[in-house]
Amino acid sequence: MNEEYDFIVIGSGIAGLSFALDASRLGSVLILTKKSSAESNTNYAQGGIAAVLSPDDTPELHVRDTISAGVGLCHAEAVDVLVREGPDRVRELMNRGVAFTRENGVLDLGLEGGHSRRRIVHARDRSGSEIERALLQAVSAEPGIVVRENHLAVDLITQHQERGPGTPGERLRCSGVYALDASAGAVKKFLSRSTILCTGGLGQVYRHTTNPLIATGDGVAMAHRAGAAVANMEFIQFHPTSLYDSGSPAFLISEAIRGFGAVLRNMRGDEFMLRYDARGALAPRDIVARAIDAELKKTGDDYVHLDLTHLKADSIRRGFPHIHQTCQEKFGLDITSAPIPVVPAAHYACGGVVTDLHGRTTIDHLYALGEVAMTGVHGANRLASNSLLEAVVFAHRALGDIRSDRAARARKLPVIPGWDDSGTFDPEEWVLIEHNRREIQQTMWDYVGIIRSTHRLERAQRRINLVREEIETFFRRTTVVEGLIELRNLATVADLIVRSALARKESRGLHYVTDFPETRDEWLSDTVIDADGRVA
Ligand code: FAD
Ligand code: SIN
Repeated sequence: MNEEYDFIVIGSGIAGLSFALDASRLGSVLILTKKSSAESNTNYAQGGIAAVLSPDDTPELHVRDTISAGVGLCHAEAVDVLVREGPDRVRELMNRGVAFTRENGVLDLGLEGGHSRRRIVHARDRSGSEIERALLQAVSAEPGIVVRENHLAVDLITQHQERGPGTPGERLRCSGVYALDASAGAVKKFLSRSTILCTGGLGQVYRHTTNPLIATGDGVAMAHRAGAAVANMEFIQFHPTSLYDSGSPAFLISEAIRGFGAVLRNMRGDEFMLRYDARGALAPRDIVARAIDAELKKTGDDYVHLDLTHLKADSIRRGFPHIHQTCQEKFGLDITSAPIPVVPAAHYACGGVVTDLHGRTTIDHLYALGEVAMTGVHGANRLASNSLLEAVVFAHRALGDIRSDRAARARKLPVIPGWDDSGTFDPEEWVLIEHNRREIQQTMWDYVGIIRSTHRLERAQRRINLVREEIETFFRRTTVVEGLIELRNLATVADLIVRSALARKESRGLHYVTDFPETRDEWLSDTVIDADGRVA
């Protein structure tokens, strides 16, 4: 039997839940999410959400800081929308029950790298889990929203599934998604008038990342396979301060701690950031992560120190209870009296599925929101705490677009065949999946990290190509299972990152290549990859 909805939202982080709450006023909504509903990057966000809410701040300043962090590649119009609509969306989160931290009744605004004013609205150091809690509670009160956990989207449905490869030049349209119901072990089809990709990030493509296991780039990979344009995949943000040797995912030590007064020192106690940037530890992330990398290479040390020991113990415990408690209980480290060993880790994808100012992708009826999207707001390096903001601002705008398109909302859905798994067999060689996953993660970490070179990128490309071929063969012969679907997507996004990195022959923001150390005006444009893998 066909399951048909007005809206299918893939993902239950801040982008998916915000969109679903708005959309439930307009039609039926199905949220598909691959694990439990709360499991998302959103749930782990610490610092908070940036918005102009203080009397000494202005939209112009937030725009300037965002554009300056993005090193020339931000789309001015998108940044303007982000900053001007941001405060209303933050108020909406509060109306939906998010309890942000207040001091004497007033929102407590934090400071993070690259921001010239205090503008980070937060719930102590667990902003994301508070947002996720409140939005999930609001969703559970909406009878018009159906949530299916343990449903992993496998592939988007376009004309390709209706009647084979489309005619060249034909405009693609999306009519839903095939998803693996993990409990039933079967792939099912779900049809929709509008499909909203909210699948988050791809940090798991790297060996060391702050991102949870769900972040395997599924949305970018699915959209690319379906024929959507993808852009700026070379701009992977490495967060400067994850706790050294804290396992996988790496435990994040929020940038808000530096905003609070913590400093970075090398093992000799030298406050080295001041040698790299006048803003010291509060310079934008690309600069801080590169400086740490350079210090580690110079000294041969395994980590640098983030030092708060000069700050009052009480205020550290009060301001950062989660970080303090986790370091103490899980890692035996008292951050009020000992410096924190930190290293950079893959954190955020600035690129993704190309969208316009309403979240529309290059495929009709397919929207992309949140980290999976490339709206143009982050350019070559995202400003801290602009990600949660981007998700809520563009989720709201996408709904506005759909509301005004009556024809799209009333469209009749095509007849789509069920998932064909004839001729496939159960995977027996699990070890291959695990090995391939590790090989991709290690290759990306070793050769496509903070500092790149053409030689290393080409080496990565050869290895990724080989692994991709193996995976595709395995995928065609095997009944689809979660690990294999994710592995296939990781291989696809690894390939997209490497291709984009090789194509950009300059250094800009998060993309630093030793062969092309300068930032050059002739490269002042997005790296767009089309469905055939061509880089424009
Ligand atoms: P997510 O919150 O990642 O949600 C994605 C959802 O999609 C999940 O529910 C996932 O299970 C689901 N999904 C994925 N693939 C599939 C599939 N194939 N089928 C079905 N479901 C799928 N940003 C800030 O602005 N401020 C911060 O303070 C901040 N702190 C951070 C701290 C950490 C540790 C991390 C990892 C990130 C942080 N970020 C922060 C970044 C920010 O959290 C994310 O960019 C943002 O939460 C992304 O939201 P999203 O809704 O797009 O995706
Ligand atoms: C942090 O708290 O340092 C993360 C903020 C972000 O990724 O924007």
